[in-house]
Amino acid sequence: MPKWLKNAVFYEIYPQSFYDTNGDGIGDINGIIEKLDYIKELGCNALWINPCFDSPFHDAGYDVRDYKKVAPRYGTNSDLYRLFGEAHLRGMHVLLDLVPGHTSEEHEWFLESQKAEKNEYSNRYIWTNAAFEPAKGMLYVGGETERDGVYVLNFFKCQPALNYGFLKPQEDWQLPMDHPDCLATREAMKDVMRFWLDHGCDGFRVDMAESLVKNDDEKKTGTCALWREIREMLDEEYPDAAMVSEWNAPVKAINQGGFHMDFYLNWGGNGYNSLMRDYDSGEDNSYFKKDGKGDITRFLSEYLPRYEATKENGYYCLLTCNHDTKRPKFNLDDSELKIAYAFIFTMPGVPFLYYGDEIGMRYLDVKTKEGGYQRTGSRTPMQWNTEKNAGFSPCPADALYLPVDSTPDAPNVAEQEADKDSLFHTVKDLIALRHREEDLQADADFETVYAKTGKHPFVYRRGGILVALNPTTETAAAPVSADGWKVIFSIGSGKAENGVITLGPQSCIVLK
Ligand code: NOJ
Repeated sequence: MPKWLKNAVFYEIYPQSFYDTNGDGIGDINGIIEKLDYIKELGCNALWINPCFDSPFHDAGYDVRDYKKVAPRYGTNSDLYRLFGEAHLRGMHVLLDLVPGHTSEEHEWFLESQKAEKNEYSNRYIWTNAAFEPAKGMLYVGGETERDGVYVLNFFKCQPALNYGFLKPQEDWQLPMDHPDCLATREAMKDVMRFWLDHGCDGFRVDMAESLVKNDDEKKTGTCALWREIREMLDEEYPDAAMVSEWNAPVKAINQGGFHMDFYLNWGGNGYNSLMRDYDSGEDNSYFKKDGKGDITRFLSEYLPRYEATKENGYYCLLTCNHDTKRPKFNLDDSELKIAYAFIFTMPGVPFLYYGDEIGMRYLDVKTKEGGYQRTGSRTPMQWNTEKNAGFSPCPADALYLPVDSTPDAPNVAEQEADKDSLFHTVKDLIALRHREEDLQADADFETVYAKTGKHPFVYRRGGILVALNPTTETAAAPVSADGWKVIFSIGSGKAENGVITLGPQSCIVLK
């Protein structure tokens, strides 16, 4: 386990929208380098950068055309190597986004694979034997290739699935996992990983990590075995490299697959969804809404067994948001966000902050861009200040990759830096607290102390620290004895007296 994860706090950067230094309306690697000090100041000491590789951008870069080349719109490979170096100089780590399940249909492997004549790449993707033979039960495309066959997709039409084999092949075109051509795909992906690790990258966020082996069983036996082998490669060759899976099944991803971290993703109705995004039914029952209708046990009943089962082997990670999810500001105001973030940054595992969430950037109603659809509203340019294009880019506004939030009260970094009571400062203080207190970091024990349906506050222990949260507008008290403990952090008001912890409206205290 890379030691640096213990105290890591990640900042996710959507490179399109972070900072544009060359005035072409889209963010770039040099922009990330210029803003490293800002990120460090905020307290984040690690980055996850969404795919920044050469791509036709039909899925915002998750359709990779060349795994080893930075997309010219973001800069050059040398810029990215320089970013690794500058990050390391500041004691920061950088994860790239690895997309192992599919490539762009414009990747040279695919261009070869679709040729009628057999070649080294014929089996790099999954093909049936004839254009009129469907790949039953799978997404596929037919009729577009020289080759007489249909090919299997992993996600959008532009993303043919790479061939890592089938757990139990059922048709003659389905190859077993140990077929030399499937092993070659695996080796090709390891080669991509080694390429970036050798140039200074510190690991990968892995896209759709569960999807590699087809017809896999419920336990994902095939896919987990594949990742376990990659973990062995890393342990041997790059013991400091870290891997986080987009999977949301930590027992599989961490215990079986060997991932160091797995994301707790927002899936309708799940525990994470109940915290900040439980509004799809029309009524908002999110736990961090101040009206107090939420129920923390909905989160705990799902989280706790997963946490307990995996805590010895890796980290089940909480995030403020990601590029696929509605920003938390969509339904929570800053006073609600402060309590929600107090929770995220005091929980076990490694926290991830999505760019702009530290200032409460909004989810915007904007036209889809590069396959974003409803996700596009969470991908708009970072708002740095009150200057042109919110300081994101010097280009004319109509040349921007995506529009900037133009509402008069749109939050921005400069104003929030100057305001001690801002969300920005709460986030900064929370992360600083986490860095100061080892018991608030990734490994220290977590235990619920007071968590009841329909009641507030919520109290939990991390090692020798107690955290008490009251997201509601009413004062809340719990029979928890912490008399004499010192308050080391607070939002709003709270105290521990006579065997009772009492919190004022929308308050949080951390006791030691
Ligand atoms: C998950 C990524 O987060 C998402 O943005 C992408 O569209 C799909 N995987 C396909 O790669």
